[in-house]
Amino acid sequence: MSDINFQELIDLSQNWSVKLDWSKAHHQIKGLRLENKPYPVSITEVEANLMRRHIVEKGCKSGFELATGLAISTLAIGLGMKETGGKLLTVDNYSEEHLQVQPTGPTSVWDAYPDCHKVFQSIRTHFGLPVEQLIISSPEVYSRLDRKFDFVFLDCPKDDNDLKRDLDGIFPFLAEKYTIFIHDSHCFTKAGEDYFAAKFGRLYDKIHRFGEVGQHFPLAVYCRE
Ligand SMILES: C[S@@+](CC[C@H](N)C(=O)[O-])C[C@H]1O[C@@H](n2cnc3c(N)ncnc32)[C@H](O)[C@@H]1O
Repeated sequence: MSDINFQELIDLSQNWSVKLDWSKAHHQIKGLRLENKPYPVSITEVEANLMRRHIVEKGCKSGFELATGLAISTLAIGLGMKETGGKLLTVDNYSEEHLQVQPTGPTSVWDAYPDCHKVFQSIRTHFGLPVEQLIISSPEVYSRLDRKFDFVFLDCPKDDNDLKRDLDGIFPFLAEKYTIFIHDSHCFTKAGEDYFAAKFGRLYDKIHRFGEVGQHFPLAVYCRE
């Protein structure tokens, strides 16, 4: 399994209708963004490879992702699922690209074919990913789910209320054994962490592994095995 390499992805995107670039809004995080837009910002290369490896090591076969954004996490999870023979359902309402800020509070579905969606399609086709997408908002998406998931990635909750919304939403759809990764867990206060711990029996682990000083935007992981 060769690692996902962001510079290679940027080079590849030169042939797509929409191009990727290094994030300038969050330059210290080293995520990707659309060439001319500051938001959204993707997960980092380290995080992408970490999630992909985890899926392969644990043999996860049914993934749920909120949210697609630039589809870099979709690529990571999708490649992992391709290797295990699994499938990923990814969800986004494309509000962040539309607003060019990180949305807070209730958001509706925005233009269903923004540039992020074009990047998603290019990535899915190029890498032959076993990924299906729903363009819908959280929490509405939870009434549309029809299967159990053994891998969940949350990259949309950015405060305690969002976290509660998505934990409550996904809870009934968790398989017997599962992993949940949550991005930007520095956004949650003790109230959010306590809610998580009460619901799942213990708090998630925070991973600080982004290489350079100042890059402490923790990815959280919780495994039930
Ligand atoms: C940080 S970006 C995701 C980046 C992506 N995981 C990646 O690695 O490229 C967050 C995404 O959440 C979406 N979003 C925000 N609120 C949402 C909601 N209530 N329902 C669905 N999607 C939402 C935004 O449109 C944005 O694309």
